[in-house]
Amino acid sequence: MTNDIVSTSGHADEPVLTVRGLTKTYGRRPTWYRRHPHRLVAVNGIDLEVGPGETLGLVGESGAGKSTVGRLVLRLIEPDAGSIDLLGSDITTLRREELRRMRARATMVFQDPYTSLDPRMTILDSIAEPLLVQGGTGRSERYDKARSLVRRVGLNDAHVDRYPYEMSGGQLQRVAIARALITDPAFIVCDEPVAALDVSTQAQVINLLQDLQAERGISYLFISHDLRLVRLVADRVSVMRRGEVQETGPADRVFEAPEHAYTRELLAAIPGRTPRARRFAAPVGAAPAAPEPATGPALASAEEVVAPAQ
Ligand SMILES: Nc1ncnc2c1ncn2[C@@H]1O[C@H](COP(=O)(O)OP(=O)(O)OP(=O)(O)O)[C@@H](O)[C@H]1O
Ligand SMILES: [Mg+2]
Repeated sequence: MTNDIVSTSGHADEPVLTVRGLTKTYGRRPTWYRRHPHRLVAVNGIDLEVGPGETLGLVGESGAGKSTVGRLVLRLIEPDAGSIDLLGSDITTLRREELRRMRARATMVFQDPYTSLDPRMTILDSIAEPLLVQGGTGRSERYDKARSLVRRVGLNDAHVDRYPYEMSGGQLQRVAIARALITDPAFIVCDEPVAALDVSTQAQVINLLQDLQAERGISYLFISHDLRLVRLVADRVSVMRRGEVQETGPADRVFEAPEHAYTRELLAAIPGRTPRARRFAAPVGAAPAAPEPATGPALASAEEVVAPAQ
């Protein structure tokens, strides 16, 4: 049936997300008595694309507009201008019911799992809730799926009846990931997903996100101010500054041969890149480029690629 072809979210190599001219301003709109009120252009006409199974890294200094982009592309906030094609639909024109269905296919993992999870809900209820909101599933089906995800993200049955305050930050971020996965999304916005975690937990959560991507072909918009991390996880990178994308390219190219002066500035600011910084960072007698055991070899080697030892 032709209907089947039309109703799929596009061909395998079509972008999962295409953003054109996306703009968002905050502040009060001008009126006849207030011609020039304070308005802040948080996102200023940006273009982005994320392919199937791809990770697009979004980097830039604090206040560059990264989180605003993450929220806009899922229409958690409304854009002022621009088009957002997500999984074959123009998300800016979706009605409430269509948007609800889209929210199952495109989800989000936030920086702070303590505030993104309801403190009054058990872990299992939190994970199962998006299925309840979607409707169409029975209670036992929801809980069975939630339990299998609990195990998939590296937790166990002993955790399911706990409340968020009884869990560690790393465990809670695993819960947030399970919750984001339960509706089988094709696209996840990860906004600083490991920034609140200690280094060894960061590596575990990043490995989990990467394994899930390989298993399920999920596309990520991976927002982070940590360039070493983005270098490690992203296929392509967009560098943002003051609401604008300065450059976009394959991660290797952007990090090894940045075209834009701002990208070079950002790279130069990575701690440990200058000989002076390395002297401060390394304990006396230690090899300067020694990998931190807690980070695991992957993170340490990424640092070496970004900042080759001289
Ligand atoms: N709800 C809001 N109302 C007014 N201004 C806002 C709002 N949300 C964000 N901003 C402003 O928009 C700009 C971009 O913010 P955004 O949170 O997107 O930056 P970011 O790149 O995610 O920064 P960080 O790395 O610190 O998370 C900032 O100047 C911020 O102060
Ligand atoms: Mg942010």
